Amino acid sequence: MKRSSSSSRYYFGLTNMFLLVLVVRSQLTSDFYKSTCPNLTQIVRKEVKKALINEMRMGASLLRLHFHDCFVNGCDGSILLDGGDDGEKLALPNVNSVRGFDVVDTIKSSVENSCSGVVSCADILAIAARDSVSLSGGPSWTVLLGRRDGSISNGTLANIVLPSPFDPLDTIISKFTNAGLNLTDVVSLSGAHTIGRSRCALFSNRLFNFSGTGSPDITIETSMLSDLQNLCPQNGDGNVTAVLDRNSSDLFDNHYFKNLLIGKGLLSSDQILFSSDLANSTSKPLVQSYSNDSGLFLLDFANSMIKMGNINPKTGSNGEIRSNCRVINS
Ligand code: HEM
Ligand SMILES: *[C@@H]1O[C@H](CO)[C@@H](O)[C@H](O)[C@H]1NC(C)=O
Ligand SMILES: *[C@@H]1O[C@H](CO)[C@@H](O)[C@H](O)[C@H]1NC(C)=O
Ligand SMILES: *[C@@H]1O[C@H](CO)[C@@H](O)[C@H](O)[C@H]1NC(C)=O
Ligand SMILES: *[C@@H]1O[C@H](CO)[C@@H](O)[C@H](O)[C@H]1NC(C)=O
Ligand SMILES: *[C@@H]1O[C@H](CO)[C@@H](O)[C@H](O)[C@H]1NC(C)=O
Ligand SMILES: *[C@@H]1O[C@H](CO)[C@@H](O)[C@H](O)[C@H]1NC(C)=O
Ligand SMILES: *[C@@H]1O[C@H](CO)[C@@H](O)[C@H](O)[C@H]1NC(C)=O
Ligand SMILES: *[C@@H]1O[C@H](CO)[C@@H](O)[C@H](O)[C@H]1NC(C)=O
Repeated sequence: MKRSSSSSRYYFGLTNMFLLVLVVRSQLTSDFYKSTCPNLTQIVRKEVKKALINEMRMGASLLRLHFHDCFVNGCDGSILLDGGDDGEKLALPNVNSVRGFDVVDTIKSSVENSCSGVVSCADILAIAARDSVSLSGGPSWTVLLGRRDGSISNGTLANIVLPSPFDPLDTIISKFTNAGLNLTDVVSLSGAHTIGRSRCALFSNRLFNFSGTGSPDITIETSMLSDLQNLCPQNGDGNVTAVLDRNSSDLFDNHYFKNLLIGKGLLSSDQILFSSDLANSTSKPLVQSYSNDSGLFLLDFANSMIKMGNINPKTGSNGEIRSNCRVINS
């Protein structure tokens, strides 16, 4: 995407200036809804708070929705669209997995009641993700706003660009790089797994016969291994869930990284940030820093969230303000 727009700027010499003006004007800003929806942040926060009182895990689910929205065609609310066999909701990383759509609908109607037709679903998701983190005890940050909603939900693309828990570290790093995110972002954002849960189906390959070795993944700590073998027996229900951070699954803290140091990462994609050959020269030093310095993790996480929220936003006359987050306007 980026490549084609910069090459078109290169080829259309004079239009260059005009495009630049548009680009500058269409940057996201913190006060985008200042006059059109002054109470926006309070409205969203109040609804997120209600949702978390009802179910604390919802904070994790909303945070993940924003991530899965941003990686696929930019943060444009495309993951919220219903329908279509090739929609994002049915893509492998999402089907029977992402949750929180009803909560997003509730937030959206509450926003519409105060300021109708002006706030995008993509922006609501970005604010809800921030509030989910801060209401879970994590950092807060100023959310940049002004994203507009896209009209294409591309499941094929979601399958290609979203990281899988079975990916090796080099693949994960390149999927982030393709989204404009660097190694610091890979490690800090992986720290989102300090809250929430995962289904057995996404890590049970580590528990009995890992990669055809006949034995479990040797990087799993032994007491956690036996707990997980009991929770997720071979040929058991792959939809049973385990917490991603065994220490404190509802609290946004740096325990995710402390866990990695002692072999208690749940997903393969978690543990390889510390226990893989490539990790030694890439992610491992960052994991060690974050495990020892909670403040550094929280600060880097907030900065990486802002970067992730900036992926390819639709602004200006691109996209629309959806009135129902599940369907494009007719
Ligand atoms: C680094 C690559 C990543 C991989 C391979 C990955 C993979 C996964 C998987 C497999 C699950 C469990 C899904 C299920 O049970 O169906 C999960 C859950 C989760 N992920 Fe990630 N993830 C990654 C990065 C991220 C990032 C960048 C964020 C947000 C900034 C994030 C936030 C979450 C949260 C909060 C949950 C728990 C959701 C819930 O409980 O509903 N993940 N992730
Ligand atoms: C914003 O909230 C205040 C009270 O907190 C209320 O007086 C005001 O009418 C609200 N404005 C809008 C546009 O909803
Ligand atoms: C969806 O993404 C795939 C993979 O990048 C691409 O080939 C296809 O054209 C996209 N479909 C739509 C409708 O944009
Ligand atoms: C990643 O980018 C941030 C700025 O966005 C920078 O501060 C950080 O040093 C970069 N990390 C690496 C490993 O290049
Ligand atoms: C482990 O898996 C491999 C290949 O998938 C298979 O050949 C082997 O028999 C399995 N070992 C055990 C102990 O189940
Ligand atoms: C999980 O549940 C869904 C339906 O709720 C079902 O379609 C799917 O096959 C189950 N997945 C696993 C891994 O058991
Ligand atoms: C989490 O870690 C803290 C400090 O390391 C410890 O005091 C506490 O018992 C742990 N909680 C759980 C549930 O493991
Ligand atoms: C990576 O570090 C571990 C110990 O931290 C060591 O056992 C392993 O040999 C290292 N691998 C490489 C390729 O340096
Ligand atoms: C952890 O951080 C403290 C300062 O916050 C530092 O003194 C100490 O050496 C660090 N320990 C490790 C193992 O990095």
